[in-house]
Amino acid sequence: MAAGGDGIGHLPDGRVVFVDGALPGEIVEARIVMSKRDFARAVVAEVRDASPHRVAPPCPEVANGCGGCGWQHISPEAQLAWKVDIVADALRRTAKLPDATVRAGGAVGPWGYRSGMRLAVAADGRVGLRAAASHRIVTLETCPVASPDLAALLSGVRVHGADEVALRVGIASGEATAFAHAGSAQLAGLPAHVGVGPAAVLHETVAGRSLRVSAASFFQSGPAAAEMLVAAVREACGDSLGSVSPSSPLLDAYGGCGLFTAGLGASHAVIVESSVSACADARVNAPEAVVVESMFERWAPTPVNLAVADPARAGLGRSAVEVLSATGAARVVLVSCDPVSLARDTTLLAEHGYRHRGSTVLDLFPHTPHIEVVTVFDR
Ligand SMILES: C[S@@+](CC[C@H](N)C(=O)[O-])C[C@H]1O[C@@H](n2cnc3c(N)ncnc32)[C@H](O)[C@@H]1O
Repeated sequence: MAAGGDGIGHLPDGRVVFVDGALPGEIVEARIVMSKRDFARAVVAEVRDASPHRVAPPCPEVANGCGGCGWQHISPEAQLAWKVDIVADALRRTAKLPDATVRAGGAVGPWGYRSGMRLAVAADGRVGLRAAASHRIVTLETCPVASPDLAALLSGVRVHGADEVALRVGIASGEATAFAHAGSAQLAGLPAHVGVGPAAVLHETVAGRSLRVSAASFFQSGPAAAEMLVAAVREACGDSLGSVSPSSPLLDAYGGCGLFTAGLGASHAVIVESSVSACADARVNAPEAVVVESMFERWAPTPVNLAVADPARAGLGRSAVEVLSATGAARVVLVSCDPVSLARDTTLLAEHGYRHRGSTVLDLFPHTPHIEVVTVFDR
């Protein structure tokens, strides 16, 4: 299985072919849709000998082309196991770590786990998700991976003057927000309790802490995912959490609305975050922290012993690794949402003396190839 979710095969001429919809161990008939000098891409036309892990996609919208869940044809247990394999493979190939410790850390429940969704807006104002590798919008009346409260908003909402809308519900609080990026957007068909606009807020409870989340701020796929991630990060921090002090606070880099600082109960922390909205939430959620509104790469590093970093899909990259290293952190806990960027960052961290100690793979997006990994590095 390749990062991104395609099955990998080989053409008779030796080229790798990435086959959309194929599973390891299967024999399929595939139609080649792109042929390059070094590789090709194909889609499954017919499954001849199916994997025991293949299931019929439970959601009818998969057959309509909905691109939201690319892995509904795989049993949930096999999804996590393959995500572990993909991470181990990325560390082997890209970071040149053939024996890296990579383990399965757990998965959120496969249905109803999403408390927030970014939806595309169709010409008639209805919302949906784009078809895979296409601009076509599959409008949705409901969605089985959305929490029931979120799913209930989909059929009624109508959006005009914007291409996208973000809907989010607070599972703990019953609150909800809706935010279309375009300033001139008009939203209709939402119940009265839904706050509209970037500054609308809801509250979610994670690790016993109530968190304020503004509509324009990042939040994990849902509170179950946030809870699982905080627990994995806590385990990864280990005894180093005890070393947090006023002179050596926890560094919560790419800290969003303060999920890790608040969830870990860190007594002293520095949150570095570029979003104005998330910083405002973090100041409410983690009053014990110093919140610095800055691109992490431009932050002037201060001494810490323990750093947690949770960058966007592109990963840390060279500049951010230099900043992290300059803090003098003995332990770095890296939360990655892309296995290839994790592997690239592993190589960059190794150049600064950080050794990969172990990666824990979480499935926070069942039925999709999205992978979340918590990795411990020590120096
Ligand atoms: C994957 S989210 C993680 C947020 C938080 N740790 C959580 O789990 O809720 C990444 C966060 O990094 C922020 N961000 C993106 N690029 C950044 C940068 N270059 N420097 C600082 N923050 C950045 C985003 O606004 C977002 O809040």
